[in-house]
Amino acid sequence: MNSFNSLAFIAFAAPLFFMSCKHEVIPTVDSDSICFERDVLPLIVSNCATSGCHDAATAEDGYVLTNYATITRKGVKAGNPDGSELYEVILENEMPPKNPMSADQKAIIKAWIAGGAENGMNCSSDCDSNVYTYSQAVTPLVTKYCIGCHTYPGASGNLDLSLHSAMKSIGTSGKLMGVLYGNGYPLMPPGNSQIMTDCEIKQLQKWIQDGCPEN
Ligand code: HEC
Repeated sequence: MNSFNSLAFIAFAAPLFFMSCKHEVIPTVDSDSICFERDVLPLIVSNCATSGCHDAATAEDGYVLTNYATITRKGVKAGNPDGSELYEVILENEMPPKNPMSADQKAIIKAWIAGGAENGMNCSSDCDSNVYTYSQAVTPLVTKYCIGCHTYPGASGNLDLSLHSAMKSIGTSGKLMGVLYGNGYPLMPPGNSQIMTDCEIKQLQKWIQDGCPEN
């Protein structure tokens, strides 16, 4: 490269470099409020343990992100989110490659690692099965457990579950309850066991009985 070319290169590349360094603001979440099974596991399973990525069958790059033992085996330094590869790639939107996590979701992963990356047991639940509207119950649950795979680009099974129409369709056909219990349909989120709590499933069940309204 002659000096003119390198100057031109710097003039052209420098703004790109600074643009890529623009960091979004990650909200601060109190580590003590985080429960691994309730807050972290569903996010990682639905965003990372996707077929062809970090499920047990594929284990891309040696990462199997399906349960506490495998998630903490590699790339998680308890107490040090910035030194944890798992958090770094999520923060920088390198992973998941298609649909990056939101700032709120990143904040949960960060707080969990900062607080020691513990396997919280018997975490109290703030689920109330008497709340079962689309906006207060269904949308948050679908965002937490399903959207990592079921939205475009690349929606699994060609199902975009961020749409009310799609949720209504699987709700009324019996598929939604079928996949949550793995009864007649493949278990969702895919894995070896049910990860939604009974209270959460009850919320969805009541919404279905209500006729799957967009309320
Ligand atoms: C880790 C990725 C992943 C997550 C998370 C996930 N799914 Fe799926 N889902 C798939 C894949 C892949 C298919 C299509 C292949 C299949 O049928 O096994 C599918 C298929 C489906 C189907 C169609 C089943 C059929 O046989 O017609 C429904 C309904 C469904 N998912 C609902 C859900 C719901 C509800 C959630 C959240 C509770 C969810 N999924 C979470 C990957 C996922």
